[in-house]
Amino acid sequence: MRRSVVVGTGSYLPARVVPNADLATFLDTTDGWIRERTGIGARRIAADDEVTSDLAAHAARRALDRAQLTPEDVDLLIVATVTPDSPMPACAVRVQKKLGITRAPAFDVSAACAGFLFGLTIADQFIRCGTARRAIVVGVELLSRIIDWTDRTTAVLFGDGAGAVVLEANESGDRGVEVVKIHTDGALADALAIPAGGSAEPLTAAGLAAQRNKVHMVGQEVFRAAIKGLGDVAEEVLAEAKITVKDVDAFVFHQANLRILDAVAERLHLDREKLVLVLEETGNTSSASIPIALDAALRSGRIRQGDRVLMAALGAGVSWGGALVRV
Ligand code: ACO
Repeated sequence: MRRSVVVGTGSYLPARVVPNADLATFLDTTDGWIRERTGIGARRIAADDEVTSDLAAHAARRALDRAQLTPEDVDLLIVATVTPDSPMPACAVRVQKKLGITRAPAFDVSAACAGFLFGLTIADQFIRCGTARRAIVVGVELLSRIIDWTDRTTAVLFGDGAGAVVLEANESGDRGVEVVKIHTDGALADALAIPAGGSAEPLTAAGLAAQRNKVHMVGQEVFRAAIKGLGDVAEEVLAEAKITVKDVDAFVFHQANLRILDAVAERLHLDREKLVLVLEETGNTSSASIPIALDAALRSGRIRQGDRVLMAALGAGVSWGGALVRV
């Protein structure tokens, strides 16, 4: 059976580390509140001269190096992001140019924190259908540019970063993407959104002054949806694969809030030792969080080749998804 095998991963975090204490110098917050309510200790913030496609290209190059492939070997590039360099063209176009890929189709996927899993699903379909042989899927966000830095309820949560995987078609062996499941329910579309800057509310001077072009969130609604969505999709993936949590070597869930992950771990009765966590150092990097965590775990030896990894994410939309991959 033709499968999409992860042959390389890479990630990139901007150099500037911003600990919680730095935020407390200009926001009415404390390191204690942020740690206790979210599990976040610091986040990376991109330099002024860095743009989203820079972060993505760094991560993709590292993934290609790991796979011992060159950009010309790639015939599909998918970039999951809600923070493209500009509204048009797709961020993937800029990433493609920076990588030196010249003909492979390159496009963006917009599914917020679930974006990487949406991209993985699409790339897996291309590969299994034979339309592509090698694909790069990047999850990348430069969220610091779309955050209202005066709003303590959102500003403390997010960070910048990128992660990438290279997938390759393989007809033999038991490694590869085993199950992918993605879902969307638009009923909560307004719970986490950037209200202005599109056709519904073109950006005006008044909108700009009111920060309508920045992230607005009803945190508790998203919190509840995340616990339910992550738990549901993890169970759906396990059922489809006909395995139990005990058969999974590592859980790489979207890193939004430690309390969300604790609740999901409790619901699934999973061994907390198997949870891969990077949240404390990165904050919530949205679509980048799963590939960043996966790359860190593979490079540290925490996840080894042949391990079965269950991934799950939920974000704005709400959109959510899960995947089971033997890496
Ligand atoms: N520092 C200090 N106090 C704060 C802060 C802060 N940074 N933020 C909010 N508070 C205050 C609130 O104003 C409120 O004060 P009040 O009681 O006087 O009104 C109090 O803390 C409690 O606020 P809650 O909103 O009830 O706090 P909660 O425990 O729900 O945590 C949080 C808020 C962290 C946003 C949580 O709801 C959450 O994580 N939601 C998920 C949102 C998320 O992760 N979104 C990212 C994208 S989607 C995703 O990745 C899943």
